[in-house]
Amino acid sequence: MFTEKLHQAMNDQVHHEFESAYIYLSMAAYLDEANLPGFAHWMKIQYQEEVAHTFKFYDYINERGGRVELQPIGQPPIEFDSPLHVFQAALAHEQKITADINALYELALEEKDYPSQIFLQWFIDEQVEEEQNAGDIVATLKMVGDNPHAILMLDRELGQRQPPVEANAEQA
Ligand code: FEO
Repeated sequence: MFTEKLHQAMNDQVHHEFESAYIYLSMAAYLDEANLPGFAHWMKIQYQEEVAHTFKFYDYINERGGRVELQPIGQPPIEFDSPLHVFQAALAHEQKITADINALYELALEEKDYPSQIFLQWFIDEQVEEEQNAGDIVATLKMVGDNPHAILMLDRELGQRQPPVEANAEQA
């Protein structure tokens, strides 16, 4: 069993991850309405990634003898100015999640909880990838600007994104 402080922080992270899923689903809805099915597909896969992250924390809390306590989730942003704005918001959100994970790791160090430090290592690596993924798309969107042909090519490319391994395992 971990300390109450760490237990609470892990529960908070369940909330942050599930809230992330909800935010990305809202972004997918905006992109679907904008007739960009590939962009929307990418965001729906991102939604699945966040659900998988939620379950990693859910299962870990249970493994350590803790109780998962779900918290309320507010309405996510529903209006955006452009696909670029969506991905800039996604990048900013991932940077916030990275700060949450780093704070959680810091707490695991303070509390001398070694299993949690090992558990959180996966998320520290994952956040590097998460920020890079969103950041790469922001950079590409800035490069292509309003060029409709380039936007359609990018839409086709983003439509190829594969679901996370965890999501396949859940469905199997
Ligand atoms: Fe679960 Fe995108 O961080």
